[in-house]
Amino acid sequence: MVFKLAVTTVALAAVASAANFKRVTCADGNVTSNAACCVFFPLLDDLQTNLFQGECGEDVHESLRLTFHDAIGFSQSGKLNGTGADGSMILFADIETNFVANAGIDDSVDALSPFLTRHFVTAGDLIQFAGAVGTTNCPGAPRLEFLAGRANATFPASDNTVPLPQSDVDTILSRMGGWWLLARRSHQAVPFDTTPFTFDTQIFLEVLLKGVGVPFGVNNTDGAEVDSPLPESNEMRLQSDFVLSRDSRTACEWQSMVDNQQLMMSNFKSAMAKLAVVGHNPDDLIDCSDVIPAATPPVAKPATFPAGTSPSDLQLVCNSPFPSLNTDPGQATVIPECPDGDTNLNDCPS
Ligand code: HEM
Repeated sequence: MVFKLAVTTVALAAVASAANFKRVTCADGNVTSNAACCVFFPLLDDLQTNLFQGECGEDVHESLRLTFHDAIGFSQSGKLNGTGADGSMILFADIETNFVANAGIDDSVDALSPFLTRHFVTAGDLIQFAGAVGTTNCPGAPRLEFLAGRANATFPASDNTVPLPQSDVDTILSRMGGWWLLARRSHQAVPFDTTPFTFDTQIFLEVLLKGVGVPFGVNNTDGAEVDSPLPESNEMRLQSDFVLSRDSRTACEWQSMVDNQQLMMSNFKSAMAKLAVVGHNPDDLIDCSDVIPAATPPVAKPATFPAGTSPSDLQLVCNSPFPSLNTDPGQATVIPECPDGDTNLNDCPS
């Protein structure tokens, strides 16, 4: 009996490893695990050449934001309409891009839509694929999973599925559950941290610093923005990040990512894997992760207090020990506006 069980286990292991090593050669010579993945190789080249240009620039940021805004268009309670990561943001752009929370998302919708006419993929797959490919250009971003086979949306998502920067923690947690920790991002023109083109842990540190003002001297009246520690450097802080970093339910997880690149990467990878399949049974999708290029390694620089700030500016809610970090020397940190480090948006390579 014991012997029979052992033989069965060995046989099962053999089947599993055969499945792992299954290889298909596509017409263009690329090798993948499933013939259904072949269509993504030319899409990968097209995106990298004609949209992202191999950089971690504005189009990558916008595409990543789109993965979230498309996927969160769902409702577990049935009160709102939406079938999750279904491409509805592109397919029903005339409706969904007008929602307040989707302000500016039309840039990524316009940028990605032409790829649907050149490649035989669904809109939901295109959005999640573009996000996974684009982030590999960002130093420190993990190589994300990519599953294919999302059906096209047949109706638009309702308004109010996407949390607003004004939202409180209850609202954010009820919409996003465990993926709240994805609420880190970079913005080129109005950065949320001092390293907008690097997928590092600076944002988790900088959001914990005492705020002193809003950039551009703009009087913030709609509650979306709160004081940032570096308004002179044009750094902006969203109210939603501020409350997530200081709420007792989320503060320790937020703080745990300060200067912990590996933890941040693995949290981001697992949260994105859940987000990308909202509205789908992952078992019905095909794993095409092997099409996603290798990730760009992190910049080997620990988190640092931006020049002019110090540990005394920290506003900590979590009792866990805080890492000991250096402070950038010199005058106020100048935040780059281009992926190549240039500090003038007009000089960014187009
Ligand atoms: C509590 C949830 C979230 C809120 C309230 C929020 C809010 C915002 C806001 C207000 C902006 C600025 C938009 C603009 O004016 O251009 C923004 C940008 C961005 N968001 Fe979110 N966000 C949230 C979650 C996420 C998640 C989960 C992701 C990633 C999957 C993400 C990725 C981004 C990116 C990459 C940008 C920069 C886009 C660009 O550079 O054009 N956000 N977010």
